[in-house]
Amino acid sequence: QQSSGASQMVDKGNYRHFMEKEIHEQPEVISHTLARYLDFAQGTVANFDLPFDFAKIERLAISACGTAYLAGLIGKYWLERYARLPVDIDIASEFRYREMPLPENSAALFISQSGETADTLASLRYCRGEGIPIAAIVNVRESTMARESDGIFPTLAGPEIGVASTKAFTCQLSVLAALTLKAARARGTITPDEEKAFVRQLAEAPRYVSQALKLSDGIEKVARELSHVRHVLYLGRDTNYPLALEGALKLKELSYIHAEGYAAGELKHGPIALIDEQMPVIVIAPHDRIFEKTVSNMQEVAARGGRIVLITDEKGAKNATLDTLETIVLPDVPEFVAPIVYALPIQMLAYHTAVLMGTDADQPRNLAKSVTVE
Ligand code: G6P
Repeated sequence: QQSSGASQMVDKGNYRHFMEKEIHEQPEVISHTLARYLDFAQGTVANFDLPFDFAKIERLAISACGTAYLAGLIGKYWLERYARLPVDIDIASEFRYREMPLPENSAALFISQSGETADTLASLRYCRGEGIPIAAIVNVRESTMARESDGIFPTLAGPEIGVASTKAFTCQLSVLAALTLKAARARGTITPDEEKAFVRQLAEAPRYVSQALKLSDGIEKVARELSHVRHVLYLGRDTNYPLALEGALKLKELSYIHAEGYAAGELKHGPIALIDEQMPVIVIAPHDRIFEKTVSNMQEVAARGGRIVLITDEKGAKNATLDTLETIVLPDVPEFVAPIVYALPIQMLAYHTAVLMGTDADQPRNLAKSVTVE
C-alpha cells in the first residue's frame, strides 16, 4: 500500500482537513471536468476521441474498486437508460478472476482516481489479453492505467489527498454523464433537442453543488446523532442505491461506525429485521419517478420505530408526510444530475461525524489512498 507523495506539494489552506478542502473544491473541479467534455455554447457533447464506437459496441464492461466502482454503478444506470447500452459492472477484484466472456463487439471501461489500483490494473490487463478496446477514466494522467489504455478520459479534479475519495468521485460522475450523452447520440437514443436539454442541466450542476455545500447546519445536527450510534442503514432506489452504498462506505471508513447501504426495495428481504429505536436510517430520495415507492419503504421503517434522516428536495420534503429525525432539503434538480448533487450531503455527513468523533478524516486507520498490492 502506498500513500500519495502529492500531499507534500498541496496545502490545506484555511481548511481543517484535506477532505474538507476537497469537498469544497467540487463546484470548480466539476465545472472544469464538464467543460472538457461538453460544448456549452453549442449545447452538445464536445468532440473528443474514443477508442471504440458507441454505435457499434453491443456491451460495455466496467470495472473499478471502492468509490470509483460506485461511480461506475451510477454510470451503468445512465448508459442503460439513456443510451440503451447494456453494461456489465464488476468490482475489479472479482472481475480479474471470474473469466467473463468478452465478445468481439464489446469494450471495457476502467475507473480509477490513482490509475494504479492493483485489482483494476489486473482487470485491464485481462481485457487486453481478450483483445477488446480499453478506455479509462483516471485522475492521474501519468498513471499505469492511463499508459496501458487505448484511450483515456481524464477527470480534472486536481490532486486528491484525503484517503476517502470525494472530488474525484463527482468528477468521475461528470465524465460518465458526458459519455452517456456521447453514447446516446451515437446510438440515436436521444434527439438533438434532448441532448441540448441534458447539456444545459449538466451546466447547472456546479451551481447546485455550491448550494448543497451550504447545508452544513442540518448535516451537523445529524452527525451529532450518528456519533452516538453503533449501526446506520442507508437506503435508496435507482441511482440513489449506489449513493446509499457510497454513504455507508464513507461513514464506515471515516468514523468506524458500522454502516450498510441497501436498495430500498430490498429492505423487506432482510435488513428490516435490524430496525429498532436505536437504528438511524438515512434515506436518499429526491422527488423522482419512484419517490412514492421509497416513501412506502420509509413508512415500514417508521412503523418499527426506526429514526429516519431524509435527504430530499423541496418537493420531496412537502410530499413525504411522516416524522423524521431530520430532513435535509436540497434544491430541486433534474433527475439526470441528481447523483452529482446528492453526493455532497453524503460526504459532508461522514466528514462531520468523523470530526465529532475525533477520528482522522484524512487518514483513517488501516486504509491507503492507493492500493497497489492485491
Ligand atoms: C482506496 C481508496 C478509495 C478509492 C479506492 C479505489 O480504497 O481509499 O477512496 O475509491 O482505493 O482507488 P482508485 O485510485 O482506483 O480510484
